[in-house]
Parts: sequence; structure tokens; C-alpha cells
Amino acid sequence: MKILILNGPNLNMLGVREPGVYGKESLQDIEANIQKLSNELDFDYEFFQSNAEHEIVNKVQSALGEFNVIIFNPGAFTHTSIAIRDAMLAVAIPFYEVHISNVFAREDFRKKSYFSDIAVGVISGCGSHGYELAIRDGIKG
Ligand code: DQA
Repeated sequence: MKILILNGPNLNMLGVREPGVYGKESLQDIEANIQKLSNELDFDYEFFQSNAEHEIVNKVQSALGEFNVIIFNPGAFTHTSIAIRDAMLAVAIPFYEVHISNVFAREDFRKKSYFSDIAVGVISGCGSHGYELAIRDGIKG
């Protein structure tokens, strides 16, 4: 079981960025928790973050045949990116959409997602725990 954990723009700023909304944990802290979880549950993973839409499209394309599941926090690309949606549809790897904040309790523009209708599941508002919840569901197959 190999899982790609994919993070979009500004998630490299976690811990610094709007801590009242996103909490105090850094992306490195989140990865450290996933490392521990991978030992406990016995899965392989790769952690990838980019601020650039084309890099995420390239990463999704290269995931074909490499990964069983994708855990994806698309950041602001959630609300804008048809290109990444098309990449997800092209590779057809089951994926979970994760948001640290509850996007439905925020601005109206965050209520639109280009991913929710094609995701296996959506977790929003559970903080960094959302990554773990998605992984635990994803490894069930
Ligand atoms: C986010 C929510 C998005 O609306 C926002 O643009 C982000 C982070 C979240 O994890 O809560 O960058 O995906």
C-alpha cells in the first residue's frame, strides 16, 4: 500500500499562517505524525507540497501505477483548478479531499470545490487529524 500525500499552495506556511484558522502545527509536524502512523499501520508514503499548479498536475500524472491512494489538500486550488481535477480524473487513483479548516463555515467562495464530487471522501474542519482519518479509511482499500 503506497499513499501519496499531496498539499497545495500555502500549506508550507502552516504554523505561521493564520493560526486561529489553521492551528499551530507546521507541515513538518504533520509529516512526522504520518511517519509514526506509517510504522504503526505499515504503509509506504510520499509527502509532496507545491505552490505551483503545474507541479501538482505533473505529480498527479506521475502517480499513475505508483500509488494506490492519494490524500489531497488542494489549498486554494480546491476552489479554482479544473486542470488538477482533470489530472485526478485522468489517473483515476482513489483520493480523499482534506481541509484543515471547515471550508463550509467560511467565505462563500470556499464552498465550491472542484474535487468533492469525484473524491472517495471529504474531511473538512478536523484540523491536521483529517490527514490521519483519510489515511485510516484509505488503507482499508
Ligand atoms: C484549506 C482551505 C482552503 O480554502 C484554503 O485556500 C487553504 C487551506 C484548508 O486546509 O483548510 O489554503 O485547504
